Amino acid sequence: MDGQTITAAPVLILLGPPGAGKGTQARMLEEKFGLVQLSTGDLLRAAVAQGTEAGKQAKAVMDAGGLVSDDIVIAILRDRLAEPDCAQGVILDGFPRTTVQAQALDTLLAENGQRIDAAISLEVDDAAMVTRISGRYTCAACGEGYHDDFKQPSQPGTCDKCGGTQMKRRADDKAETVASRLEAYHAQTAPLIGYFDDKGALTRIDAMGDIGDIAADMGAIVKTATAR
Ligand code: AP5
Repeated sequence: MDGQTITAAPVLILLGPPGAGKGTQARMLEEKFGLVQLSTGDLLRAAVAQGTEAGKQAKAVMDAGGLVSDDIVIAILRDRLAEPDCAQGVILDGFPRTTVQAQALDTLLAENGQRIDAAISLEVDDAAMVTRISGRYTCAACGEGYHDDFKQPSQPGTCDKCGGTQMKRRADDKAETVASRLEAYHAQTAPLIGYFDDKGALTRIDAMGDIGDIAADMGAIVKTATAR
């Protein structure tokens, strides 16, 4: 944190296709502003790993690059939002992804006397996303991210951060699955850009540049939105 503690309980939404940098930027905002990153992708992967009923239903859809059913995702998000740490404010990374989810979020927030402070759309070039995603992998021990072309560990196969030697790739990061994920984004999620624009909550960001520059732009938006 850099002394910019936010006093209300802000709600920020990150929109963008797979690989746009939602997770990367959400983690940076989490650190800078003391907000909690809520990634429905991470919550679903945890449910799959735990073998819960929701996880079992979600797995095949995720592996194929489609969207998990609204009922499952809304229930998972509702439970997570009710946990005490979310009272400090949240960054929704990958939720909502359909109009039904957006409407459910409005209802959930209204019940808590909250509102959406900002919806940020990360705008990128689809073709670059396939390269970005299909080359990425992480350290199984600490989660540090690497990339076949852009960021390799200094010693191949050994994590620079923790020394771990097991690297893993997401099951849905194959090029053909990424194409399905992009298709799902454009068909079902991109319409939410207009939804949030109509509410006066939307800001668009060019997310093809340097990660640090994008983070600076996003930080400025968050400060303005949460100061209202
Ligand atoms: P989810 O886990 O949310 O995946 P996604 O939206 O496809 O997004 P990613 O995590 O792949 O990308 P990102 O935008 O976070 O980018 P990142 O920062 O990692 O969802 C997975 C699946 O779960 C879905 O397909 C669906 O099945 C299901 N699901 C989840 N939520 C759902 C919902 N609400 N409803 C229904 N189903 C749901 O960056 C990517 C890479 O690029 C990294 O290697 C990073 O280092 C690099 N990078 C980031 N920014 C830059 C930059 N500016 N320049 C260069 N490299 C960069």
